[in-house]
Amino acid sequence: MPPYTLTVNGQPRTVDVPADMPLLYVLRELLGITGPKYGCGVGVCGACTSHIGENQAARPCVVPVGAVGDRPITTIEGLAPDEESLHPVQQAWIDHDVAQCGYCQPGQIMAAVALLAKQPSPTDADIDRHMGAGTPGAPGNICRCGTYVRIRAAIKSAAGAMLGGGCGGCAGASASAGAESSARGP
Ligand code: FES
Ligand code: FES
Repeated sequence: MPPYTLTVNGQPRTVDVPADMPLLYVLRELLGITGPKYGCGVGVCGACTSHIGENQAARPCVVPVGAVGDRPITTIEGLAPDEESLHPVQQAWIDHDVAQCGYCQPGQIMAAVALLAKQPSPTDADIDRHMGAGTPGAPGNICRCGTYVRIRAAIKSAAGAMLGGGCGGCAGASASAGAESSARGP
């Protein structure tokens, strides 16, 4: 059983685990990175959504650690550029007070960042398809609290900030601690 050295949020992390162990277990149970949430465990709900590769949304509950290779892994904890700043999507989430219980929100944010990397100015239909209902073979991110309308508004706000060159939230957050906690992760 060879050890695997993964790049997680910019840091090398070595784990000695079976190749078929789901990456989500490695992140949460071995590395203590709990932003990606366990929901369904079968790649359907999106609660664990993180990036494997540059802005590539993936569901680590169904990605064996042996399949990651040298692709960098980014979780919600690694999205902000530094401790004092937020990614524009995180800031938009706070500005629109998106989170309710918050459980799905790290995954929602990571999915939204991946969407904006592919489609910098998505339509409502693009957002709904990507984030909500999904498509066959590419399910959306489920929110049992039904925050989809605010998610759509926050994505449009973040898109505007990113396209406008303004870094909508890079100056730091001023919203409530609870909202920031959901936007940052655990
Ligand atoms: S826990 Fe990974 S998609 Fe549901
Ligand atoms: S905010 Fe509660 S499940 Fe989405």
